[in-house]
Amino acid sequence: MRTYYIAGNWKMHKTRAEAAALAKALVTRLKDGKHKYLVAPSFTALETVAAIVKGSNILLGAQNMAAEEQGAHTGEVSVLQLKDLGVHAVILGHSERRHIYKEDNGLINKKVQLALYHGLEVILCVGELLSEREAGKAEEVCETQTIQGLAGVAAADLSRVTIAYEPVWAIGTGKTASPEDADAIHASIRQVVARLYGAEAAQQILIQYGGSVKPDNAAQLMAKEHIDGALVGGAALKADTFVPIAQFQ
Ligand code: 13P
Repeated sequence: MRTYYIAGNWKMHKTRAEAAALAKALVTRLKDGKHKYLVAPSFTALETVAAIVKGSNILLGAQNMAAEEQGAHTGEVSVLQLKDLGVHAVILGHSERRHIYKEDNGLINKKVQLALYHGLEVILCVGELLSEREAGKAEEVCETQTIQGLAGVAAADLSRVTIAYEPVWAIGTGKTASPEDADAIHASIRQVVARLYGAEAAQQILIQYGGSVKPDNAAQLMAKEHIDGALVGGAALKADTFVPIAQFQ
């Protein structure tokens, strides 16, 4: 049985005080939660939130990371700096990084390999644009992003990788992929992992769904065979909406 993994991506929201208030509420309200939990605040709030979630059942995540270890990279944040703050996992290849900041599969793969090399867990995001879905290419796009994102990743490191399927057209739009459509893509991603790493690794890898996950659709999504959790954006910004997702029944 795979565990469920519910992660909150706070994106570019919250001052330190706001982040602290949310993190405190989550620590209290999720303390008896049964699943794996992570919150990913902005870089500026990582240290604040690290102190609050320390010793709790909520892991600390970062939303991005530089592809280089250190050096002359103005404005970037390195894996060493993230580890220094107590970061456990890093979200890589988010569609906002791919499409607004033009990160390609090669760059994302470099980050994946660097994060794993330094012992972090990775949430590797994949997902198609609306035009790609309408052209019947959703599976193919996710397959390519998965294969290229995982290039060079050793089988022994795969247990520290979660894949998040986030159809771009469902992010922040209120449109959710139907549980059936999402599950079909999850199943195809699992097949790709099986081809690359074998059936057992494919059975074990966690594949989150992201894109307008809300308290009222979480349970239907999670009921699907290949959906192992959620990467939540908007609804992760308030304890009142994140907690019911994290404790879906
Ligand atoms: P929303 O839940 O706001 O659609 O965002 C999803 C997402 O991008 C999480 O990484």
